[in-house]
Amino acid sequence: MHDPTIPNVNIGVVGHVDHGKTTLVSQLTGSWTDRHSEELKRGISIRLGYADATFYKCPKCEGADSWSNTDTCPICGEKLEPVRSVSFVDAPGHETLMATMLSGSAIMDGAMLVIAANEPCPQPQTKEHLMALELTGITNIVIVQNKIDVVPQKQAIENYKQIKAFVKGTVAENAPIIPVSAQKKINFGVLIDALNTTIPDRERDADVPPIMLIARSFDVNRPGSSWRDIKGGVIGGSLIRGVFHEGDDIEIRPGRQYMSENKAKWEPITTKITSMNKASHKVPVATPGGLSAIGTKLDPAITKSDTLVGQVAGAAGSLPPVWDKLKFDMTLMDRVVGSASEQNIDPLRLKEPLMLSVGTAVTVGIVMAAKKNQAEVILKRPVCAELGSRIAISRQVGGRWRLIGMGVLTE
Ligand code: GTP
Repeated sequence: MHDPTIPNVNIGVVGHVDHGKTTLVSQLTGSWTDRHSEELKRGISIRLGYADATFYKCPKCEGADSWSNTDTCPICGEKLEPVRSVSFVDAPGHETLMATMLSGSAIMDGAMLVIAANEPCPQPQTKEHLMALELTGITNIVIVQNKIDVVPQKQAIENYKQIKAFVKGTVAENAPIIPVSAQKKINFGVLIDALNTTIPDRERDADVPPIMLIARSFDVNRPGSSWRDIKGGVIGGSLIRGVFHEGDDIEIRPGRQYMSENKAKWEPITTKITSMNKASHKVPVATPGGLSAIGTKLDPAITKSDTLVGQVAGAAGSLPPVWDKLKFDMTLMDRVVGSASEQNIDPLRLKEPLMLSVGTAVTVGIVMAAKKNQAEVILKRPVCAELGSRIAISRQVGGRWRLIGMGVLTE
């Protein structure tokens, strides 16, 4: 049976800037995901944050009150057994950071769309993030109506009606809407209950070559560490299928860039797995779903500061192809959302730069050919991806990258 203290799904936390995503994750998990000094200074999330939570059920309490994120029942004080763990992927809400949000959506099995009750709904990134979920095929959604502690009941009900009207006709039309105060931990039992029903654990194929999408990479050594104590580079992300074992030889693609005859080329990186962590546990086998941190024999300079984000790790010789040109079938939307003034979306133009999100990779592609439903681009940075992968397409509108449609990688 699956260990209830090890996460098996990733729940994305998306929504407009300052609506309380990071606060919610920190209150549900007990750890604050904004750790980067720049993030602390500016008070906004810049990178993807992630943290794990374990949910417990009280045998003595009933209904949603029986759920909690602590091992002691907040209602009756009973000592509780763990039932399930999940990983949260906290996406930044600022409009300039859509690329990071899209990169995170590649590893989300479902999402919480956080909407603050004290602002009119929808705000621009509430719309843009919901659209991103829709385009990337994330349908298991729980809407969290946050900050109910700062609005009178009448305003909360008015805001609820705005949310209902906003999601009508979208993938979130029937999503549960759970009023909470992230800051004061109000209504968390009902929220956990809704997450369990809407985003259940998933069965995954473990008997196939492993593929992990890299969402973070780190140098975990403190400055000034002695060479004897230096630990190898760490990659973080989600196995989308297959398993990794301690000691496995792995390959990372596209890998490392080098120059040859004045041209940038890429070669796969190969290394060995030295340790693995899921949640706060050391594990001998990393299974799909949830977030895994993989220790390697790599020089930590190769993994520091998220350098390997967007790359793919797997068993040597079994990774998907690396592409420096992409051809894709696509559907463009009618209008750009995400900014205060919404505009029509014109067809793609030749030589136009596009921002493409493929898996956790974000790259720029220059349009070399475009028809109504198909395009070909040359990439500034290659990506490793399977045929049939989804590609989120963004273009520059008013000096910002705006999501305009979705493509599927073809030959
Ligand atoms: P980005 O990640 O930068 O998009 O922001 P965020 O959505 O993660 O918001 P964050 O959690 O940083 O919260 C923004 C502000 O709202 C902070 O000052 C929080 O203390 C406050 N806040 C979050 N949740 C609540 C809540 O339930 N009630 C009240 N009153 N304030 C809240």
